[in-house]
Formats: sequence, structure tokens, C-alpha cells
Amino acid sequence: MRLPIIAGNWKMNNSISESIELIGAIKAHDLDEGVEAVVCVPYTSLNEVKRVLEGTTIGLGAQNMHWEESGAYTGEISPAMLKEIGVDYCIIGHSERRQYFNESDDIVNKKVKAALNYGIKPILCVGETLEEREAGKEQKVVREQLLRALKGIEGHEIENIVIAYEPIWAIGTGRTASSDDANSMCGFIRGIIGDEYDETIKGNIRIQYGGSVKPDTIEELMAQRDIDGALVGGASLVADDFVSLINY
Ligand code: PGA
Repeated sequence: MRLPIIAGNWKMNNSISESIELIGAIKAHDLDEGVEAVVCVPYTSLNEVKRVLEGTTIGLGAQNMHWEESGAYTGEISPAMLKEIGVDYCIIGHSERRQYFNESDDIVNKKVKAALNYGIKPILCVGETLEEREAGKEQKVVREQLLRALKGIEGHEIENIVIAYEPIWAIGTGRTASSDDANSMCGFIRGIIGDEYDETIKGNIRIQYGGSVKPDTIEELMAQRDIDGALVGGASLVADDFVSLINY
């Protein structure tokens, strides 16, 4: 049995005080204990949100990190710094980072390895553009992203990774992939993991869908065989919406 995981990606939203307010509103609700809930918040809010989350089962995530432990990388945050705060997860290779900050598959691979070395669980994002889907290349693109991101990562490490399939055309557009399309890509990803590793890992690895997930679409998505959770942007910024996603 794979534990479902609903992760909120706040992106570049919420000041420290707004973050405290939002996380306070989320934790005030009864949350389904059979679902792992995670909030991935801006760096500036990590410490305070960690404090508010104490005594709850909600996990804390960052949205990015550098791969080196320290050094002359102006403006960057290292995995050691995130570990000190007590971060459980880190989103890696989000399409916005690939698109706006030129993150290559090679960089994504370095970050995934660094996160694992520090005991931070990567939420590894893969997904195709609309043009790639319309050209029928979505499986090829996702397969390449996945294999490059996982290069050199061994079987015993892989179950600490959560994979998020996020078709770029569905992110922030209000256009969710159909549950069939989302499930079939998540199944395709699971198949690749089976080919590269083994049947146990294939059965255990958790794969999320992300892209305009909302309270009225979550139930159908979560009913799919190969979808184990959601990575949620917009709807994670509204406490009631995020809570209804966790309690789907
Ligand atoms: P969205 O974002 O839910 O606002 O589409 C998802 C994501 O970018 O992770």
C-alpha cells in the first residue's frame, strides 16, 4: 500500500506573517491521517512554518536547493542549510525552474542526489509541454527527463523519491489533464521505474499528478490506480481548499 501524498507548492507567495496565518488555518482542521500532507513554502518562511507545524504530522518542504554543501554560489541555499531547519522534502526540477532558470536535466540530477545525501526527500517533477504532447512526444520527453534525473541513483535510495508528473500545459491554466491521461502517464513512469530497478520498487514508488488540481477534481484523480497524490499550486494557497484536497 502506498501512502497517498498531497503536497502544496506555495511558489513565490506568502510573506512570513501570511505563511503563519495560512499554516495555522490548515492545521486547525482535522486532517485525514491516512494521507501524508506536505507544504512547500518559500525559503523565508521555512523556519517559522516549521515552528507552527511542531506536533502535527504535516511535512515541510522547500521548493528548490543548490547541490553543493557550501561555497561561492551567491544567492543559493544549500541542502545542509535546509536540513538544519528540519526540511523533510524539496521540490526539484519544477517546470518553472527548468523554464525560467534554465535548469537542465543534469542540474536536476545533481540536486536529486544532493537531497538524498542529506536525507531530504526529493519531489522530482517531470512533464511535457503542449507542443510536445500535440506532436505525440510526451512519453519520449518524460522518459528522457526521468532517466536523466535518476542517473546514478541506486535502488535503495529511490523509494525516498516522490515523482510528480506535471504536464506544463496544465499548470496554473485551469486545464487539468483528464484522469485517464494523468493515470496513463503515471503508469508509464511506474513502468520505467520497474524496468530500471525492480518490481518491489515499482510497486512502492509514489507518483503524484500536478497541474490545476482542485477540490472538485481530486477524488477522480486519486481513484486512479497509478496516481498516489497531487502536487498542488493555486489551490494550496487557500486553507479550506487545501484541507479538502488532503481529506479527499
Ligand atoms: P497549479 O500548480 O496547481 O497552480 O496548476 C501546480 C504546480 O506547479 O506544482
